[in-house]
Amino acid sequence: MSEAIETHEHDVVIIGAGGAGLRAAISAAQPGVRVAVLCKSLLGKAHTVMAEGGAAAALGNLDAADSWRTHFYDTVRSAHFINNYRTAEIFAKEAPDRIIELEGWGALFDRTPDGKIMQRPFGAHTFRRLAHVGDHTGLELIRTLQYRAIQSEVEFFQEFTSTRLLLDGDRVAGVMGYYRETGRFALFRARAVVLATGGWGRLYQVTSNSWESTGDGAAMAFMAGAELGDMEMVQFHPTGMVWPPGVRGILVTEGVRGEGGVLLNSEGERFMLRYDPERQELSSRDVVARAIYKEVQAGRGTPHGGAWLDITHKGAAFILRKLPNMYDQYLTLANVDITKTKFEVAPTCHYTMGGVRADPETCATTVKGLYACGEVACGLHGANRLGGNSLSDLLVFGRRAGEAAREWAQGLEAQPGIDAAEVQAEQERVLAPFSVEKGENPYDLHAQLQAVMSTHAGIARDRAGLEAGLAKVEELKERSRKVACGGSRMFNPGWHMCFDVKSMLTLGEAIIRSAMARTESRGAHWRTDYPDETEEMGSVNFVVWRDGDEMKLKTAPVPKMPPELRALFETGRAPGVPAPTGSPSERR
Ligand code: FUM
Repeated sequence: MSEAIETHEHDVVIIGAGGAGLRAAISAAQPGVRVAVLCKSLLGKAHTVMAEGGAAAALGNLDAADSWRTHFYDTVRSAHFINNYRTAEIFAKEAPDRIIELEGWGALFDRTPDGKIMQRPFGAHTFRRLAHVGDHTGLELIRTLQYRAIQSEVEFFQEFTSTRLLLDGDRVAGVMGYYRETGRFALFRARAVVLATGGWGRLYQVTSNSWESTGDGAAMAFMAGAELGDMEMVQFHPTGMVWPPGVRGILVTEGVRGEGGVLLNSEGERFMLRYDPERQELSSRDVVARAIYKEVQAGRGTPHGGAWLDITHKGAAFILRKLPNMYDQYLTLANVDITKTKFEVAPTCHYTMGGVRADPETCATTVKGLYACGEVACGLHGANRLGGNSLSDLLVFGRRAGEAAREWAQGLEAQPGIDAAEVQAEQERVLAPFSVEKGENPYDLHAQLQAVMSTHAGIARDRAGLEAGLAKVEELKERSRKVACGGSRMFNPGWHMCFDVKSMLTLGEAIIRSAMARTESRGAHWRTDYPDETEEMGSVNFVVWRDGDEMKLKTAPVPKMPPELRALFETGRAPGVPAPTGSPSERR
């Protein structure tokens, strides 16, 4: 039965209040522009805080040879050349300005002795590049953006679950959803919508992501007709907590390795010297995560199935100054003092490189009036994201998305129309689980989906496993048609999960279908039956979209770099790194 719906009218509605959403709100807001931010959780509670070690930007404060070119080079190489070069170029050029801007808004970065923003080394970054605040950079970034955003003319709606993007013909017209507290529906009419809803790490059993990261935004965009790309690319951060079981997956910042921590197997061997003798513990995340996985498979894991991380050689004073959060985290949650002893770590699902396809300049998706930025978007990270690139990503493209959405909204003569029948149908769809008798428990479905994804589409993949995984996802999708909940609409997590699990099933299917199509290994996508990268696959991105009730898959060509950017890769040496001098024997 339909109810009177609380209705709002805005120019720009931003879904998501993590770093990307807040940065988009700040740039969308201008006098006379009505901007709303819809936040699934409470303001400030976002996966942004899990980027602890820093924000990557070629400020050159410690290494003067760093430049946007080197940051671009590192980003593209790490992406294994399937990211959008233009997205990476804009990103590398604009990241330093966004960090300085943030500092101007009050972010308290650690300093060098001469008062500049401090930068630390991180995996696969040629130079010391991560501007940081101890080991809680994401938190400081959110704090700063939040203060800035609430001073702007932006309306915030907290604990609001968005369930559907409404369309007027081929363009976006608004968003529907409900307040988690009351279960009451609300409709936000909008000229433009910015998706900043983050990723879908909750598809996996072991994850650094909190309960919000169920991919609702990407699933809504898919339903509205947007294309999703690179869905096979899921990042497993090499170091999550392992023990006790209740803390498994919680992030252990790469900052520990950045500050000198070393990885050891059960035999006390510093095994990264074998996997990447040059970069060792600061190799790219895909390489380090795979190395730990292989050590465990080979029987050289720690008691609870991981590797040891040891930073005791740096001394207690250093650790407490540089990594205060990690010290507290291990002491409080695992009763381990990391200044005195090595500790267990293992890969944890941390980030989704794939997502809604977005234009590099404006973040526009394939649906008119719909923009995507931050983790929900794809394009920048390709097959593997560099640590620290997510924070600068959300600053650079949050700003661009907010601006572009505002300009689009200002260019429209009238508010797009809303179809009352669609609104009614959405209410019925969302409320349906209350009237299903003897239906499926959404938590069971979620747990089974997590098991399927972890077993069949985790760090190691092969054809038989992916095929089996797809069949199981199809079966879970079928069962999810009868998902049920009891109780009332007020604060009912079971009901919310009925919706979340459907989003996750859509994205799980997209991951597996794309992973089946990519018959090679590239970055985070490791196919044990196709262990090498191929030239053919290096020229395409896999894209899924909705055709009626079906998910379709196609390839799109990876955009070709112009000659001046391609030239950066010709020497095989990062820009700013001098050519080796002397004869090879002298160098030895
Ligand atoms: O390890 C970390 O601090 C995470 C950073 C990131 O994912 O960018």
